[in-house]
Amino acid sequence: MTLPLPAAQEHPFLPYGRQSIEDDDIAAVAAALRGDYLTTGPLVGRFEEALAKAVHAQHAVVCSNGTAALYIAARALGLGKGAKVIVPAVTFLATASAPHLAGAEIVFADVDPDNGLMRPKDLEDALARSGGAQALFNVHLNGQCGAVEEIATIARRRGLAIVDDACHALGTEMRPGDHPAGENAFSDLTVFSFHPVKTVTMGEGGAVTCNDAKLAAALALHRNHGMTRHPEDFVQADGFDADVPNPWYYELVEPGFNARATDIQCALGLSQLAKLPRFAARRRALAAAYDALLAPLAPLLKPVAHTNCLPTLHLYPVLIDFMALGLSRREVMARLKQEGIGSQVHYFPLHRQRYFAARYGKLSLPGAERYYERVLSLPFYAAMAISDVKRVSETLARVLGL
Ligand SMILES: Cc1ncc(COP(=O)(O)O)c(C=O)c1O
Repeated sequence: MTLPLPAAQEHPFLPYGRQSIEDDDIAAVAAALRGDYLTTGPLVGRFEEALAKAVHAQHAVVCSNGTAALYIAARALGLGKGAKVIVPAVTFLATASAPHLAGAEIVFADVDPDNGLMRPKDLEDALARSGGAQALFNVHLNGQCGAVEEIATIARRRGLAIVDDACHALGTEMRPGDHPAGENAFSDLTVFSFHPVKTVTMGEGGAVTCNDAKLAAALALHRNHGMTRHPEDFVQADGFDADVPNPWYYELVEPGFNARATDIQCALGLSQLAKLPRFAARRRALAAAYDALLAPLAPLLKPVAHTNCLPTLHLYPVLIDFMALGLSRREVMARLKQEGIGSQVHYFPLHRQRYFAARYGKLSLPGAERYYERVLSLPFYAAMAISDVKRVSETLARVLGL
């Protein structure tokens, strides 16, 4: 028996995000597979050099994914038991889970209801509640960054280490023409993700950039089980025979995970990274098209508020006043899906997440609540056409009755 085929869709389904893989990306991965290394090989160092160059950092340490990158960042900064880390409440789980897994407790900060970014006063409030924090894991949500200089000034004054979670922000310039995310002009470490929905992908992949050789060495240590093969770091005599290092020997400094990236991942990462200027320009063009097409729907629908950076947006979120429209977000998403349009909510605030709510109790963060109740991410990826943006905008206006 043959099953009936589903009716051919007039338009292909548009997910909220997806990778853009081209023939040369496939060729680069195939070449890596034919090479001598599958795990750490020459492409790991080459990718790190290329990333450091692209974001104007002195060091880049590539690893298995963005979550691992956040974790090794926390370990490299020594954020263990007893440490407190400030994290804005609107972000993916990993920004808080990673330092928490390293041993730190999390203090959630509120965010701007109109763009989801932590403001200087939100940091001050969180610091006052924290009773003394050691680090800030700030988030460049959607690819935007807010008052990074003011935030850095406050954090530095309090002696906090600053980690920028730039998993959404590869290609963003913190000031137009200046300070690419990853340069660490206002932070100690910057974390990237190369998940398929991000601007550049490695399948799975992550990296940390910094300008401090000691921190870079600590990141590399924690990427690789917390073990060292460098004789200059050995403290035990077992490492040497008549003062000559034993070639098989390695020493465990502190237990850690295997967070290494493979040569296969780095082959794809290198090929994709070379396309960053083109992908960033494309994302900016798509965002400008959305901005123009959606402008007439204000004030009931508004794009997320712009800041004074030049973003390479990872997501295209809009803020919809579902209450005033008398519509539920679930219904709107279902209607869009019926019309071949994917959408997603980024994010359910972390202070309300089951684990953190149980651990830290009820917390009132009105900016995060207000952002969350209105936000919806629309399809946004480099391979989209302007006609796709038009279709999404028109369909959304129809579904919302605007
Ligand atoms: C803000 C943010 N931080 C961290 C991560 C974790 O990155 P990965 O999925 O590569 O582990 C993500 C992933 O979506 C993210 O959006």
